[in-house]
Amino acid sequence: MIRAFDALSLPLLRWLDPEDAHRLAIQGLKLLPPIRSRADDAKLAVRAFGLNFPNPIGIAAGFDKNAEAPDALLRLGFGFVEVGTVTPKPQAGNPRPRLLRLERDEAVINRMGFNNDGAEVVLRRLASRAHHGGIVGVNVGANKDSPDRVADYVRLIETFAPVAGYFTVNVSSPNTPGLRNLQQAAILDDLLVRVIDARERVRKEAGDTPVLLKIAPDLSLAQLDEVVQVARSRRVDGMIVANTTVSRPSSLRDKARGEELGGLSGRPLFRLSTRMVAETYVRVEGAFPLIGVGGIDSGGAALTKIRAGASLIQLYSSLVYKGLGLIDDIKNDLASTLLHTGHDTLAEIVGADAATITAEAWPV
Ligand SMILES: Cc1cc2nc3c(=O)[nH]c(=O)nc-3n(C[C@H](O)[C@H](O)[C@H](O)COP(=O)(O)O)c2cc1C
Repeated sequence: MIRAFDALSLPLLRWLDPEDAHRLAIQGLKLLPPIRSRADDAKLAVRAFGLNFPNPIGIAAGFDKNAEAPDALLRLGFGFVEVGTVTPKPQAGNPRPRLLRLERDEAVINRMGFNNDGAEVVLRRLASRAHHGGIVGVNVGANKDSPDRVADYVRLIETFAPVAGYFTVNVSSPNTPGLRNLQQAAILDDLLVRVIDARERVRKEAGDTPVLLKIAPDLSLAQLDEVVQVARSRRVDGMIVANTTVSRPSSLRDKARGEELGGLSGRPLFRLSTRMVAETYVRVEGAFPLIGVGGIDSGGAALTKIRAGASLIQLYSSLVYKGLGLIDDIKNDLASTLLHTGHDTLAEIVGADAATITAEAWPV
């Protein structure tokens, strides 16, 4: 049924303005009948951050910013859903056009700027579905005009702890001026101390909600050294590697569109983000698991990301080009790879290629 849906909807959605197409996709998901997809192969189960994931494939932040359709996404077969980025106050984001397709590159450039309904509305939606189960993480960020950005994160942790499966502290979106400065060691240290503190304060009522840090793929290796050191010393539960890139790989075919401002995602991000997963993995030394994201558009790409060091993966842009059937394709490929290589779980291959990948020439 999903493949028939893809065959009908992909040409239509690709013909529409990208943001209108996205809106329509979310509306369509809200109408999805409550039929569960078949149970996942037990070999695909992953335990990470104290949570049990039925399969390793999550929908990345930015697709369902406002938590309008997390249950539909879970029913479609995602192992987890990350909603957000949510900011304390609602925010309109940047003027349109702010979402562009680079068709020939199977890529996307976005400069959305944290458009979202704000904490109050998103909290209400998540509270009303909390009894449904499934892992729904909440990606949090600061308002553009906030006088105290760290206070925004703290407030969001306290607000969402009762309904969040996990938190993602997003300090890596390129479309809120200055946000990525929060990745600087001293500032990041202060932010994480206060975020973890907030999580501890509400632990009694809300339980132990894992806190993950999402980084940019554009950090230098010296900056990555510092970020990982701070993340380890403040005992975050994991990292997400990575957000969109402000760089433009030389392989980009649509050079004209490539000039547009914003973060690039999709296939051209794959090599850089995979390299960053491997670089992070070797620095983390098993202290916590990683979620790998960036340009995953096939079972082979998912496997490469996992072998680079990702315990879990997320995707977004490839759905635009490949449709929802991709989720099952990746699961089937991962399960058959495990079968043919004699492994019982994905955990056995996480990071198997990290050392090799970090020794390769830097992707440009
Ligand atoms: C339109 C769009 C909006 C996004 N919004 C967010 C966001 O609000 N917060 C966030 O952390 N990442 C956001 N991302 C980044 C994705 O979560 C992901 O890190 C990135 O797109 C790389 O994955 P992909 O190549 O599979 O798309 C957004 C990406 C796109 C394409």
